[in-house]
Amino acid sequence: MTDKLIIFDTTLRDGEQSPGASMTREEKIRIARQLERLRVDVIEAGFPAASNGDFEAVRAIADGIKESTVAGLCRANDRDISRGVEALKGAKAPRIHTFIATSPLHMEKKLRMTPDQVLEQARLAVRFARKHCDDVEFSPEDGSRSEIDFLCRVLEAAISEGARTINIADTVGYAIPQQFGEFVRTLRERIPNSDKAVWSVHCHNDLGMAVANSLAGVMIGGARQIECTVNGLGERAGNTSLEEVVMAVQTRRDFFGLETRIDTTQIVPASRLVSQITGFVVQPNKAIVGANAFAHASGIHQDGVLKARQTYEIMQAEDVGWTTNKIVLGKLSGRNAFKQRLKEIGIELESEEAVNVAFQRFKDLADKKADIFDEDLHALVSDEAVTAEQEYWRLVHMSQASGMGEQPHSTVVLGEGGAERKAESQGDGPVDATFKAIESLAKSGSDLLLYSVNAVTQGTESQGEVTVRLAKGGRIVNGVGADTDIVVASAKAYVNALNKLRSNVERVNPQHQTTP
Ligand code: KIV
Ligand code: ZN
Repeated sequence: MTDKLIIFDTTLRDGEQSPGASMTREEKIRIARQLERLRVDVIEAGFPAASNGDFEAVRAIADGIKESTVAGLCRANDRDISRGVEALKGAKAPRIHTFIATSPLHMEKKLRMTPDQVLEQARLAVRFARKHCDDVEFSPEDGSRSEIDFLCRVLEAAISEGARTINIADTVGYAIPQQFGEFVRTLRERIPNSDKAVWSVHCHNDLGMAVANSLAGVMIGGARQIECTVNGLGERAGNTSLEEVVMAVQTRRDFFGLETRIDTTQIVPASRLVSQITGFVVQPNKAIVGANAFAHASGIHQDGVLKARQTYEIMQAEDVGWTTNKIVLGKLSGRNAFKQRLKEIGIELESEEAVNVAFQRFKDLADKKADIFDEDLHALVSDEAVTAEQEYWRLVHMSQASGMGEQPHSTVVLGEGGAERKAESQGDGPVDATFKAIESLAKSGSDLLLYSVNAVTQGTESQGEVTVRLAKGGRIVNGVGADTDIVVASAKAYVNALNKLRSNVERVNPQHQTTP
């Protein structure tokens, strides 16, 4: 007998709370479509009360997603919940996820509320949410550090007001697997109406135990929903990694006796897309989705794998979506083939005009690079979406010269509104010279926190994908750019980050509020 395990993905909400991982509406929609293809049960699309941008993104995802439940996070107050209900109006299966902190520390220092006030607030919030939505989830924030007697009272009240899912949050990643599993089990045993709700776990990775804690919550505690993110993205050290949980349950079905509805072949494409959009590079030795996860370097291992795969492989690379790079398009491919392939990999451009612009970029790329892979198409469209969105600065032209023993020199022309402006600079290397030239025009005064280059596919003709992370006045943004010339890719990424800094979207972090 197998039980069903619900996979609740929060890449677009908790994942987006990673410093620098904020995404635009279009980027979120692309990820949501990929999550739907991955067949996650629930997509937490965002925190609608955070900003108008978040509200619009949740609304667009709710309107477009048909195969997964779409959830919106709301603090436990009528205003947040009303915004959530409004944003989710178009969803086929909407879920309101409301939360309030229940640990002594959070109640006293952050909320400045008594336990009785928190209990009442939780009760009223669930009651209000249930008036507008059948599917309501309640989370006690910092649940793992809450006093169990008090937590039992809060959760019993939430269930009797109609919460269908109770999600125990290990907000600060403090839990230990055995202890956390027993904590969830005790709650379920002691709360008289616990069988009226699905139990869920939401674990952070501060001590590197998010996956282990989540699985203990399931095996020991009896939870049947895990909240997780692609690549383990999330606040601070991140959240439970979706790919690890899903593959653990699938590979060790003998032990877990659980099933998910995930299409595992979509795991690597999802990982790549999230990494490409957020600029958070996946470490090579990351389980399941790292570049080395299925690579065997030592002779003994290679020999074993050639004789019998199972000697050193417990999963098959193809099952999680690792395919040897497939050439999909080339110089002679036409507009229809291009459009069709975009559709097959889940990229839907909004207008024929957008397809034309992307197709022109594809042709330019195909002139420089004989074989075009799916990864190239993703990079090309990321670039395209970025430039179409919030473009104050445009990279019009650039050239640079460098050589052994020579001081690198760069010339850059940027478009600013209708005008074009030119600057030149020297630097320690061609990228440094280019960034200095751009900065002399933009005068952003920002700090460069991260510069990273990744090859989109294999081989020296691959496009380079560059991430630039800039910080200014407490805001952190990531810019991405791709090109077969990595200095050009770097310039695109820098300009993209500058545009994001300028767009200055004000957002509220759900957990940084003092009162609900
Ligand atoms: O970590 C946390 O406590 C959360 C809740 C909102 C579920 O993200
Ligand atoms: Zn969280």
